[in-house]
Amino acid sequence: MSRYLVNFSTADNLPTVYTDLLVVGSGVAGLFTAFCAAEQNRKVTVLTKNLTESNTRYAQGGIAVVLDHIHDSYQEHIQDTLQAGSGICNPQAVQIMVEDGPSLVKQLMKIGANFDKQKNGDLMVTREGGHSHYRVLHSDGDQTGKEIARTLEHAVVNHPNITIINNSFAIDIIMAGGECWGIIALDEHNKLRLICAAATVLATGGLGKIYSNTTNPEVATADGMGIAYRAGAEMMNMAFIQFHPTALALKGKPSFLVSEAVRGEGAVLRNKNGKRFMLDRYPRAELETRSIVAQAMVAQMQQNSTDYISLDIQPLLEKGIDFATRFPYINKKLLEYGINPLTESIPVAPAAHYAMGGVKTDLNGRTSINRLYACGEVACSGLHGANRLASNSLLDGLVFSHRIAEDFLHNGVKNIAKMPHIYNNSSRISNIFNEKELKISIQKIMWKNVGLVRNQHTLLTAIKELGSYLPYLWQDLRTRSDFEAANMLMVALVIARSALWREESRGSHYRSDYPQQVESYQRSDVIRR
Ligand code: SIN
Repeated sequence: MSRYLVNFSTADNLPTVYTDLLVVGSGVAGLFTAFCAAEQNRKVTVLTKNLTESNTRYAQGGIAVVLDHIHDSYQEHIQDTLQAGSGICNPQAVQIMVEDGPSLVKQLMKIGANFDKQKNGDLMVTREGGHSHYRVLHSDGDQTGKEIARTLEHAVVNHPNITIINNSFAIDIIMAGGECWGIIALDEHNKLRLICAAATVLATGGLGKIYSNTTNPEVATADGMGIAYRAGAEMMNMAFIQFHPTALALKGKPSFLVSEAVRGEGAVLRNKNGKRFMLDRYPRAELETRSIVAQAMVAQMQQNSTDYISLDIQPLLEKGIDFATRFPYINKKLLEYGINPLTESIPVAPAAHYAMGGVKTDLNGRTSINRLYACGEVACSGLHGANRLASNSLLDGLVFSHRIAEDFLHNGVKNIAKMPHIYNNSSRISNIFNEKELKISIQKIMWKNVGLVRNQHTLLTAIKELGSYLPYLWQDLRTRSDFEAANMLMVALVIARSALWREESRGSHYRSDYPQQVESYQRSDVIRR
């Protein structure tokens, strides 16, 4: 495959922008990196597909952080995170996130983020699966991500050191001399330009859209992972995809997220016969980690030939919680979809939610490519191991983006020389695959074969079927949607390969042909193009 997905003979005639730090993506990780670097007087450019769309915006449950050292402790948050990660978390990354998180959450509050408070002014906290304590802060009940996104957008939009290039798409990383020089971007009119930077940060978020059922928004098309992989970056732990247990399962409706905090506040799961199947088998019942709950649900659905499980909020109501006040967004959405949660149970089923794997980074967000950083869901520092603990992702985004800004300030080159001469002489074929159909095929292949339950047969099937679409990458790709499909295809293949290699079950990765955890696989795996 040629290095770049677009055709240009030399870069000399393409318009070029120069910046100190280029941040690609506008979720919590991207915007906080931009803000921290800009506050230190660096010129930052944020390039984004859509400034106001990201997984961050849809985060409901909250942000897990230890602020109360009487009932809770850093050590317990660390232990819960390590336990969810099933033996392969990077313990240093976990410690950094847990211990650096509180001061950055306070900084976020200082720049305007409001978290829900009790009548006495203390912050409210909730609990989610895998947490031994109530330590999850939330905003407007179930709109924590929206509040964080609002705060950071406001902080960057008018910042004198930040330029935002909105509605633009990062097609490929510019590589010269084995280093990253920036990004080849496509603007809203499908015109190419180069953004040349002393350092580039990938903060492009996740990949939920490579599955038919996902809680993720349309923008989550694995872009950062796709471009990093094409450029030769190391990808780590790609097999580990978290399936959120409770996505709305109504025929013809999107897999809308029903926050884990709903269970945290008391809601329970019931099978077709009304039985609370989590209660007698698992010590934490509905508040086990996500992979345990999701797998138990799938087993029940198979046994009873149903395609959903009932989420019953009556116990929460009996505790005196007003559902519409505590979960206003979920309540509104459910009513829109014709479900009154006060009188009927909510049909839910697992859906793809979060990638634990991603572009491999060190503890300062550096990838295996010089001058390329990554943070947030696109990155993999090993922090989440084989399964992320609920509500740790916003904290991850804050902590490691801050570390990248610090690393860049202390080690980054301030001014860059002129862009090196680059060229791409690949020939392109006329289009034989339609990108919209390809996206749907990838989603179906991944859902069926590389979903919650996989085995050698399904994984080999996925690799063969996905592989048959590889000539797509030689096509004359022109639109943002074309490039998204290319990223989805490449990343789907990497996930399937990583899952095939891992002949065991661990965290979110369940192999029906290897149902046990195997000691020799208690390590991360790395794939490089
Ligand atoms: C949720 O509210 O259940 C999602 C939060 C998360 O993914 O951590």
